[in-house]
Amino acid sequence: MTNKRTTVEDFDFHGKALDTIFDDYDVMLESAPVGHSSLYGGFTYVAKSEDIFAAEQDPETFSVAPSMMMPSMGTDTPLIPIDIDPPSHTQFRNILLPLFTPMNIAKLEPGMRETGRLLAEDFMNAAKANGGVADASKLFARPMPTIVFSRLAGYPEEDWKLFDDWVDDIIYRRTAEPEVSKAAGDALMAYFDRMLKKREEEGGDYDDLLDKVINFKVDGRFLTHAEKLSYAYLLFLAGLDTTAWGIRASLWYLAQNPDAQQLLRDNPDKIPAAVEEFLRTLSPVQAMARTALKDTEIQGQEIKAGERVVLVFGAGNRDPEIFENPNEIDIEREDNRHLAFGAGIHRCLGSNLARKELVIGLEEFLKNVPTFTATTFSEPWHGVGSLSLSIGKE
Ligand code: HEM
Repeated sequence: MTNKRTTVEDFDFHGKALDTIFDDYDVMLESAPVGHSSLYGGFTYVAKSEDIFAAEQDPETFSVAPSMMMPSMGTDTPLIPIDIDPPSHTQFRNILLPLFTPMNIAKLEPGMRETGRLLAEDFMNAAKANGGVADASKLFARPMPTIVFSRLAGYPEEDWKLFDDWVDDIIYRRTAEPEVSKAAGDALMAYFDRMLKKREEEGGDYDDLLDKVINFKVDGRFLTHAEKLSYAYLLFLAGLDTTAWGIRASLWYLAQNPDAQQLLRDNPDKIPAAVEEFLRTLSPVQAMARTALKDTEIQGQEIKAGERVVLVFGAGNRDPEIFENPNEIDIEREDNRHLAFGAGIHRCLGSNLARKELVIGLEEFLKNVPTFTATTFSEPWHGVGSLSLSIGKE
């Protein structure tokens, strides 16, 4: 059936709007690549891959101030480094860059694999005790990145359940219940405040993200306490639900596509390419905001200085000018130049970590869990909500 619409009214990229967002993208990419939405104070969206790339490369026109997050994520202060423009941005980003190199991330692999294996075993035990059915989101997709990231960051790993509750409130309730999101944001800030002070009082020899944030200098000075808090907070929001969403969405797809599941089970070397395709088509970050610093135009549409502009990575990832059969999930797709991690100077700092977690997560799940199917086909593709899977008879 062809889509009859030619415009997208009040485009949204959060919550229930995600259920039908791919239809919106078809319309945008076909006939309305730049348009206006009155939501969240009003913004202009940009859907084409080349326009998103160009805006990402041009921070002098498209600033990340006051925030890339729209609406804000439980705090109204700019988050470091994501809401900071050059020149300060580079220095803030460079503090953590060495910890995210492929070589450094490779060192985490054994621990990551062991965590994946143990969680897959927990999933299997829960399924066996419950007629072959268990929640792969709660038992696998969510705890895996939370535990792995906490270890790297230096956040107490045993608090992972508490972390996931905060993520739910801050990220997933921010449009429907902004006051709940704000309260959770305040609680998380207070938690980090206590953690940072304790670390600074006690001292010690650490090699984690928190240590870098505490001890590295920008412009010859240490970060202020408020800057350290902001950095710790942003890392938490950037590193947890995104990767959990990616793992859950991959399992969601594989549960409904037994041939693809079997192909990856038999050929784990194909998992990295499949992960790129899941990131492209089921992107955990569908869009991020900017603010125009001067009058400009995209696709002949005028954008005025001061306007909020939303770069819709999820639409760019389905642009037919870049991808053949863009709406098809082809797990063996080559040359996958997607925008799931953004582009330009703010390109995801954690992409090497995220990729490794996604690949190892899928490897361990497929290795330890026999053929699985979705118990219901109504689970949404997006978010980190439950994903009930049924395992085949052993
Ligand atoms: C599948 C998982 C992930 C996805 C899809 C993702 C996606 C993104 C996107 C779209 C951006 C904004 C890029 C831009 O506007 O150009 C971003 C920025 C960022 N991400 Fe990720 N991310 C993921 C995982 C992670 C992880 C695991 C971490 C770290 C622990 C992380 C840390 C960051 C940071 C620090 C930034 C800000 C970089 C800057 O401003 O220079 N992300 N991410």
